[in-house]
Amino acid sequence: MHYIAPSILASNFLELGKDVKLINESEADYIHVDVMDGSFVPNISFGQPIVKQVKSVAEKPLDVHLMIDNPDQYLESFKDCGADILSVHYEACAHLHRTLQAIRGLGMKAGVAINPHTSISLLEDVLEDLDQVIIMSVNPGFGGQKFIYQTLSKIKALKDRIVVRNLNVHIEIDGGVGLQNAESILSAGADILVAGSSVFKSDDPKDTIKRLKSIELNTFI
Ligand code: DX5
Ligand code: ZN
Repeated sequence: MHYIAPSILASNFLELGKDVKLINESEADYIHVDVMDGSFVPNISFGQPIVKQVKSVAEKPLDVHLMIDNPDQYLESFKDCGADILSVHYEACAHLHRTLQAIRGLGMKAGVAINPHTSISLLEDVLEDLDQVIIMSVNPGFGGQKFIYQTLSKIKALKDRIVVRNLNVHIEIDGGVGLQNAESILSAGADILVAGSSVFKSDDPKDTIKRLKSIELNTFI
């Protein structure tokens, strides 16, 4: 069983409500919301007022991905505007354990995202404090980039650790995911696929979501 999280970063912001409704009516499991501050990443997307409006029409949980410096000072405000899962970047947190505890303390699921250069071994001591790990398969900041294939071995290694330790942590893959590589990503052990451009730039976004959702893996391999 895997999950699909379409990213509204690739939607038409003038029709954002329409795209959220499209996700509501689709087989997607989450709505992936990319918040960028122009400091942690070289791009600015949107902040709390937009997230709040998305929440007001969303019928699926909001999976909020903070690509921002000093996330600690904004945890509560993202809870207030409707985040169900809140992920911070490993590279932006000096006291990651404290941050994750604060996220759970506010009643949200806690996630951490790691950049392509960050090793999964750095998460060893916080795995118990996590509900999900976002393995970035592009350098964060922009939609529409090419999937970095070394990500597949990171997924396998992290999955092994999660299984060996019998933990309930989902692995989410973010960046360059589409119908052309979803099966390899899922075979490597991913649980959640974020898909921006591959969904919203397709002719039939709802059908693309359905096709991503219905991929079945041959478990005998
Ligand atoms: C990238 C964001 C992604 C982005 C993915 O920094 O974190 O969630 O929306 O977009 P695609 O699927 O187009 O690579
Ligand atoms: Zn993202």
